[in-house]
Amino acid sequence: MSGFVTVWLECRSDSVRRMFEELLASHRAFLIKQTGGPSTVDVVCAELDEINPERTFASIKGLLEKHPAVEVLLTSSGTDPQVMLEAFRIGIKEFLPQPMNRKEFDAALNRLKERLKSKEGRSSAKGGKIVAFLGAKGGIGTSTLAVNLAMSLRQLNQEKQVALVDLNLDDSDLPLFLDLQPGKGFRDLARDISRLDATFVQSLMSKHESDLHLLQSGLTGTERTTGDSIPGGAALHTLDVMRSMYDHVFVDCGHSLNPETRETLDFASLVVLVTTLSLPSIRRAKQFLHVMRDAGFDREKLMIVVNRYQSEDAELLQHAEELFEQKVGWLVPNDYPMASSSLNKGVPLTVHAPRAALTQWYMGQAAILAGDKPVKSAGAELGLERKNSLLSRYWGGLTFSPKARG
Ligand SMILES: Nc1ncnc2c1ncn2[C@@H]1O[C@H](COP(=O)(O)OP(=O)(O)OP(=O)(O)O)[C@@H](O)[C@H]1O
Ligand SMILES: [Mg+2]
Repeated sequence: MSGFVTVWLECRSDSVRRMFEELLASHRAFLIKQTGGPSTVDVVCAELDEINPERTFASIKGLLEKHPAVEVLLTSSGTDPQVMLEAFRIGIKEFLPQPMNRKEFDAALNRLKERLKSKEGRSSAKGGKIVAFLGAKGGIGTSTLAVNLAMSLRQLNQEKQVALVDLNLDDSDLPLFLDLQPGKGFRDLARDISRLDATFVQSLMSKHESDLHLLQSGLTGTERTTGDSIPGGAALHTLDVMRSMYDHVFVDCGHSLNPETRETLDFASLVVLVTTLSLPSIRRAKQFLHVMRDAGFDREKLMIVVNRYQSEDAELLQHAEELFEQKVGWLVPNDYPMASSSLNKGVPLTVHAPRAALTQWYMGQAAILAGDKPVKSAGAELGLERKNSLLSRYWGGLTFSPKARG
């Protein structure tokens, strides 16, 4: 199922509202919205008007007639059989008497999630693919990889909607790669998470002339240490909304395993761990692999990419693969003058040097991601493409592994 479920609280008393908030607080996948109203969410948690129950039933009935996909959980202070019967008759499937206990509430949420999941299966939501890029260390080319793959994909396939997300909250520089002014972004979304929807996300996207969209980090200067903290679930919820808006979302996670990165790795359909064959970078990549394994992360969707590869590194590569206990997926050719001049000009490789070998490598891999090129042949002409089975799995829908959390 997709990442999160939006909830509207329709309560008469503050105590019931607080109780819902407390019970929902431990369910990270449920997001209480403060604006928009009951017709804009997946689930409405409502409190019965005990004096005038007909009023509650009439408004829920109206809601369900117009929005039959909405799930309603109703609570009331008693268990009057007449009231319960009426609730079920108008389509309310979850009824909890007060005081609500956690066990019953959690069970109701689970049933509700299952029903939403089956409805979602029948819907035709866009369901874009999320690719997360995590650098083993700083300065090894993670952003270059994310930007140029996204741009190549966009270039190859104009009808695909492609977005980049800058979640490098320590040192975000994606605007530089695309010559865009630093502006609002993820941090602004996170500050106002209850407003999160496609319209809000759209209003914060920076647009490159190629029509590649960028959600900036929203960071200017050294805010990471002084700015507001980012609420848990913010990255997850943002990506969930974005995947309904775009065909491909490429996320630059920088090189630290902070909570936002963990949420992204959890949610992504493909995770690219970027390293070079320098010893510090290999060592750090190995450490990340350890941490991910200990956290129960789904290794099936992880691909290791070696940046700045040169043929004389073949032996080192073999050692690294032994250490990783995993084959390296992609080997990105080393071309510092080309990569750095493209970055310094703020022009992606496809525009800066369309015929360069490095650009051709990017186009080849982007074609696989776009599904335009048979998975087997892409990159093979350069002798640098290494692993395809994982990319085949990239098409197999999103994994949302609760195991991988925390
Ligand atoms: N394939 C490549 N060959 C040679 N140099 C490269 C290659 N890819 C990227 N570089 C260069 O590596 C440097 C760092 O790149 P980049 O900013 O993408 O790294 P990063 O890992 O995102 O760094 P940061 O930790 O600052 O976010 C840049 O000068 C870039 O041009
Ligand atoms: Mg970077």
